[in-house]
Amino acid sequence: MTKVIAMAGKGGTGKTTTSALLTRYLLEKKETPLLLVDADSNANLNELLDLEVGLTLGQIRKELKSELPPNITRDQFMEMKIHQALIEESGFDLLVMGQPDGPGCYCAANQYLAMTMDKLAENYKYIIVDNEAGMEHLSRMNLRSIDYLLVTSDPSARGILTAKRISDITEPLGLEVKKQYLLVNRAPQPVPPALQEKIDEAVADSGMELGGIIPSSEALINQELNGESYLGLDDSADVVQTVNAMFDKIFAE
Ligand SMILES: Nc1ncnc2c1ncn2[C@@H]1O[C@H](COP(=O)(O)OP(=O)(O)OP(=O)(O)O)[C@@H](O)[C@H]1O
Ligand SMILES: [Mg+2]
Repeated sequence: MTKVIAMAGKGGTGKTTTSALLTRYLLEKKETPLLLVDADSNANLNELLDLEVGLTLGQIRKELKSELPPNITRDQFMEMKIHQALIEESGFDLLVMGQPDGPGCYCAANQYLAMTMDKLAENYKYIIVDNEAGMEHLSRMNLRSIDYLLVTSDPSARGILTAKRISDITEPLGLEVKKQYLLVNRAPQPVPPALQEKIDEAVADSGMELGGIIPSSEALINQELNGESYLGLDDSADVVQTVNAMFDKIFAE
């Protein structure tokens, strides 16, 4: 059975970073094949993996609106295009959603994404969905269910509260989430007691378990500045060891 792992969290808290580090982890564990979905309209997961984006689902949607080649059904056309849009790498494929239709409406793109994901899903062991900030976006994606929701937060009281709010609205939004974890990113080491208290409170009052506390990492900053793939990060980097131990714990269950 394919497992869906989705990211959530306020802007800039580490959703894309976590997606890339999780990809690295699952590849190393040979938990493959993986499908990575970049559902951020300002796609940038590819950059952390040093990949070029070609065709996006948004562009396919535009093509669907114009006249199709003769002797091909909409479904066949769609399938052909999706295969063109898949960036195929060793152990994983990346699919980029791209730009939404017009102001406000993601509807069509998301229907296609849902259709595509349904068809594609069975081919993969895990699907990793990197989202943009905001839960409405996630709910519009029509993911039938999310096995693991990873909610990232910055190491601040308000950040943790926002993560809790995100977790709290999954149910009213109609998202079926099996397990959810709080990931506190760029945390000072050691974690200040006041921050630890906020984390403990948020975990006690929500459906989230504490996934882990991720340190601020120079290795990540340098890798990004040099335009090198996060997949090439060294195992010895603190941040890699921390997130790998965290993923071991999360995915052991
Ligand atoms: N643990 C960390 N140590 C150092 N830098 C980090 C860490 N986590 C994230 N960053 C940096 O912080 C910035 C934001 O991270 P990232 O892009 O992963 O956040 P995001 O939640 O995906 O943002 P957005 O909401 O814009 O999609 C990036 O420049 C990233 O390199
Ligand atoms: Mg991002």
